[in-house]
Amino acid sequence: MGILRLSHVEIRVPDLELATAYYAEVVGLIETDREPERVFLKCWDEHQHHSVILRYAPTYGLEAVGFKLQDREDLDALSVRLEGAGVAVERLAAGSLGPGSGETLRFRSPSGHTIELVHGMQQVGNLLPLTNPPPEPLGLVGIHPPRIDHVFLMCEDVDGATEFFRDLLGFRVTEQILADDGHRLAGFLERSHTAHDVAFMTGPDGAFHHVGFWLDDWTSLRQAADICSFHGVRIDAGPTRHGATRGWGLYFFDPAGNRNEVYTGGYWVDPDREPITWTEAEMGHAIFYYEGAVDQRFLTVHS
Ligand SMILES: [Fe+2]
Repeated sequence: MGILRLSHVEIRVPDLELATAYYAEVVGLIETDREPERVFLKCWDEHQHHSVILRYAPTYGLEAVGFKLQDREDLDALSVRLEGAGVAVERLAAGSLGPGSGETLRFRSPSGHTIELVHGMQQVGNLLPLTNPPPEPLGLVGIHPPRIDHVFLMCEDVDGATEFFRDLLGFRVTEQILADDGHRLAGFLERSHTAHDVAFMTGPDGAFHHVGFWLDDWTSLRQAADICSFHGVRIDAGPTRHGATRGWGLYFFDPAGNRNEVYTGGYWVDPDREPITWTEAEMGHAIFYYEGAVDQRFLTVHS
């Protein structure tokens, strides 16, 4: 019971049509619904109604991040736990956050992000039959990741955010980058037994570093870089190897300046595994293992 995995991100974009064209044709997501100021999309292998919501706004950034709850009872249990810790929790009925939305607990985390814990989002299927399915539907375009993977957020107090997600929401810390004085510069947390479902890095409260989409292998990651270059999408970093999470990643920007990643590799982790620690001196290798250094530009939210 509890949180299963990352469910969705709601991303601000100043040009809804341009952003929709990018996420549909370059990233290769599938549009499932639309309102005057919001567009709902999903990755092709996801069964739920949406994993990305584009919201018209004057600038870029993250409106909300959602996690999927396994059981309806989790809504009550987590609501009690959060309110017991002094967190103001809003409980929203299914459908009230837009088409396909499930019953939701919404609150503001100490990191300054709006968090939505959702149960019962509408299921729309993954474009494949449940009997004798082929491995992938025909006609997909762009990068077409099969699913959303993780979200990387920024905040001033990474220790506080990491401990909030660990102690109140039941996440487990997989990795951390510790400053020489002992405080966390970054924290990686999981619920899905992967290397991370969410991570925090030092930066402004409420800031959005990137959303990561899963790809099945390194070849797909190189093809994603080809597709970005073909479409004139500016590549920020990679394809390269991460030290932390042991994955491979490619970073690029949507037309609004929101950073995207496609990610593969990593590892599986049991709940009783001790966290891996990276020292401040090795932070460069933790983030980009081959380069061994991080451009200051990568540590900001800006394109
Ligand atoms: Fe990432």
